[in-house]
Amino acid sequence: MGFSRIWIFVDYLMFIFTASQLWINANSQTPPGYAIDVLSPISVQRGLCVHIPCTFTVPTKIRLTTRANGFWYRLNSQRKLTLVASRENGRSYTNGRVHLIGNVTRGDCSYYIEEPLRQDQSYYVFRMEDIQTKLTYMNIFPYVVVRELTEKPKISSPRLLDGKEVTLTCTSPGKCRNILSRISWEGTPTGVRQNIYNITYQDGSRTFHSNITFTPRKSHNKSPLFCRVTLEENLTIREKQTLNVEYSPSMDLIIEGADTNDPSHVMVKDGDSITLKCVVDSNPNSSVSLYKDDLVIYQNIRNQTVTLNLMNITLSDTGRFQCSAVNEHGVTERTMDIIYHSSTLRFSPVMAAAVGGVVFLGLIIIIIIGGLLIMFCRKKRQQNIKGNLKDMNINNTDTIYAYAEFTGADNHPQQDLLFPAVEDPVYTDPDAVQYSTIGFSNPNSKVIHEDVQTEYSETKKTQYH
Ligand SMILES: *[C@@H]1O[C@H](CO)[C@@H](O)[C@H](O)[C@H]1NC(C)=O
Repeated sequence: MGFSRIWIFVDYLMFIFTASQLWINANSQTPPGYAIDVLSPISVQRGLCVHIPCTFTVPTKIRLTTRANGFWYRLNSQRKLTLVASRENGRSYTNGRVHLIGNVTRGDCSYYIEEPLRQDQSYYVFRMEDIQTKLTYMNIFPYVVVRELTEKPKISSPRLLDGKEVTLTCTSPGKCRNILSRISWEGTPTGVRQNIYNITYQDGSRTFHSNITFTPRKSHNKSPLFCRVTLEENLTIREKQTLNVEYSPSMDLIIEGADTNDPSHVMVKDGDSITLKCVVDSNPNSSVSLYKDDLVIYQNIRNQTVTLNLMNITLSDTGRFQCSAVNEHGVTERTMDIIYHSSTLRFSPVMAAAVGGVVFLGLIIIIIIGGLLIMFCRKKRQQNIKGNLKDMNINNTDTIYAYAEFTGADNHPQQDLLFPAVEDPVYTDPDAVQYSTIGFSNPNSKVIHEDVQTEYSETKKTQYH
């Protein structure tokens, strides 16, 4: 801006220097009472327009009539005047870009330049002609600078809240009379409704707008939205807005240094070191707090990741840790129990379950094999007895046969530990108690083995000798 001002000023001085010979005499000859007041220098961007206010005066003894005509000339590089706009006998003339819009009868020489070309950058000269007087005003000749288009469309920035429908407006630059703007949007939001409209003002100028209506989402945050405006062929400008979608906090609780897939608790033992991290995602930033057993141990708004390092854990380090995050849109919190586990053996629940399962299965197999072995032995023994009973020709089906088996030193010397030698006082005492096995069997039953029971009874035994 400052640079272009200087440039315009330098250019203006150059003009005064080169054109002074042409105008200096005329200038000095400007009669008293005649004056012009117009802004200079003035700049206009390509594709846009500029309204240049201007007033002129004539001596008070002369009154301008309704037949007063006005002319704007461009002073070209050959120091020639070229008519660019006029109001003459009620008829308007324009070169298509410069327009005389002021009411000359009222001393108004305002003019308007729209969609200028490069060659329109020049000095301009106003001439007035009325019945009684005519004059080319040379005390000021406004200088118009034609610049490249730098103005951008404007995108409104209402507050964007996750899940709440919103309308954004893009306004094309310029407030001109004839220019047509085409507006389009580019960007992430989907499900967009678009509405293009223009507003016409009292002076006949218009502004162009486009509304888009959509529902911003958390996922749209920080994504770009573009408004593209096309003013004329090859003259396209684009404005970018980075969406700032506000949403309530969400949180991840991460444990490092411990095996846990259950984020609600972790087992530790003496000397362990773990790191607890609360990672908060929210917009705007949340106030993040960390509590240990309901006491605040950390609070921060700038940092959205809170890290707690527990080194060389002792019993006092353990407890209930709670992380909470709150912004104006909501609150979230997570709890983690750090449980002290004094055992030097550390089993994860999964490992413990696996080991337990294996042990349990082994036990079952041992029990089944043992059971089968016992049953096999019993059956064998019963078969022997049944054979003996058959020989005795007993066929009372309802009779349950009992057999008693006595184990003694005489016939089973290998069981000495249980039934010691004859010299043992137990054997010498006729009232001594001994254990024996009694089996009951039903010879007709198909499922004899199921009825096999072992009972202990006291049997008094007399010495064989
Ligand atoms: C465009 O959006 C603006 C801002 O939300 C609103 O004031 C205006 O009425 C809308 N215009 C149209 C035509 O939808």
